[in-house]
Amino acid sequence: MGAQSVQLDYLTWNEQYSVGVPLIDDQHKELFDRVNTLIALIRNRPTYYDTTTSREEMLELLAAFRSYADFHFSAEEQEMEKIECKDLDTQKELHADYVRDIDLFIGDIKKGEEIIASEVLAMLIDWLSNHVLEDDQKAFKHA
Ligand SMILES: [Fe+2]
Repeated sequence: MGAQSVQLDYLTWNEQYSVGVPLIDDQHKELFDRVNTLIALIRNRPTYYDTTTSREEMLELLAAFRSYADFHFSAEEQEMEKIECKDLDTQKELHADYVRDIDLFIGDIKKGEEIIASEVLAMLIDWLSNHVLEDDQKAFKHA
């Protein structure tokens, strides 16, 4: 495969994404930063299809992302309880789904399957925008 250039824009958090809880906004910013680290990794290596050489690096970043996401979701669920969020059960299910999605990718990489880094990223970006822009807005602002 030739040099395949992956054009990815870095994610920038802005006030419109605020859920009105500073602790949660800060954690969302951290999630953005972590996705940006992955974007940087792929930008620096346009031919990231060769996952065998970079598998460990990718695995490490994804594992760290997963553990931060876990931490964030627990903190978030506590905040949702405080405001008596009425769809807390749904939110918990969504959180579990997100973690499972990451685990699937981690599992694939561990099994030695060929993964395309830009697909992993697309999943994470999708994940993050659904979570921050839709689920959390709904949970915190329309609780
Ligand atoms: Fe969140």
